[in-house]
Amino acid sequence: MTTAVLDIYLTEADAEAELRSDARTGLTAIPKVLQPKWFYDATGSEIYEKITQLPEYYPFNAEREILHTNAARIAAASGAETLVELGSGSSEKTRLLLDALADTGTLRRYVPLDVSEAALREAMGALAVDYPQLSIHGIVGDFTRHLGQIPTEGKRMLALLGGTIGNLEPADRAVFLRSIRQQLAAGEQLLLGTGLVIDPGVMVPAYDDAQGVTADFNRNVLRVLNRELGANFDVDAFTHLALWNTEREWIEMRLRATRSMIVHVAELGLDVPFAVGEEMRTETSAKFRRSGVRDELESAGFELTEWWTDSQDRFALSLATAR
Ligand code: AVJ
Repeated sequence: MTTAVLDIYLTEADAEAELRSDARTGLTAIPKVLQPKWFYDATGSEIYEKITQLPEYYPFNAEREILHTNAARIAAASGAETLVELGSGSSEKTRLLLDALADTGTLRRYVPLDVSEAALREAMGALAVDYPQLSIHGIVGDFTRHLGQIPTEGKRMLALLGGTIGNLEPADRAVFLRSIRQQLAAGEQLLLGTGLVIDPGVMVPAYDDAQGVTADFNRNVLRVLNRELGANFDVDAFTHLALWNTEREWIEMRLRATRSMIVHVAELGLDVPFAVGEEMRTETSAKFRRSGVRDELESAGFELTEWWTDSQDRFALSLATAR
């Protein structure tokens, strides 16, 4: 029989307080900036699911190809008893790992951690049916703040898939990787998905698709601010921009004001002026090279033990062992 528990460390009220503080900081900064995590309300999560189906958005399929092709190798190299997944969402790709780890006979427990309680409940319900032998311990939390709540039972492999680590800027990434390392015992592992630096002619359209789904995703953050903070953004007055920053090696998404305006954010008591053409950054999605991933992992106290890429070298999965 499956045993399942769900721990909640992040409440609506916590998220609301953090959104207020992020919005106040970002909307008064020069240039203006918003954190990408605020894209993901129920609508935003749905739009992201649509993004993963777009012909231009290769990272999703590339990572699935790697997992599909190498699942048995990953499981053999890992031998994990506990799979911890940070930002598990719908846990869709996780099944490839769960199946492979179950086949090697080591797997006992799955610990999905996500900010969305709804997504977690749904994923856990489906997994409980399909993996009756597995203990499932869900954690509603923010993976930059609640790593300390992860259970320590069994040899663990911690997975961070999708290229999500690219949403953190280098300094935050270093802090984050170090805090992951601190939670692990020597010999435990990290499985990390990263988009690779490739032709900008391929990377940019992945973040600026022909159907405008990503544009809709980007503008959704304004709808979140309108609803949650009583702002009055005219969502149609902003256009979507995606560009490759050659120096930082990241894709940057921005929203550009098409007219000058003053946006009132009622719950912050804030009036935010936008000049015509003013751009606000809403996401950075860093792309990596093998040497960079290796160096960042080493600085954090990991050894890069395996490196797998898709057949077109667009995405990589790294297996790293805590030293
Ligand atoms: C969910 C963070 C992996 O950066 O590629 C997709 C989010 N943004 N299209 C990414 C995203 C625009 C995505 N991650």
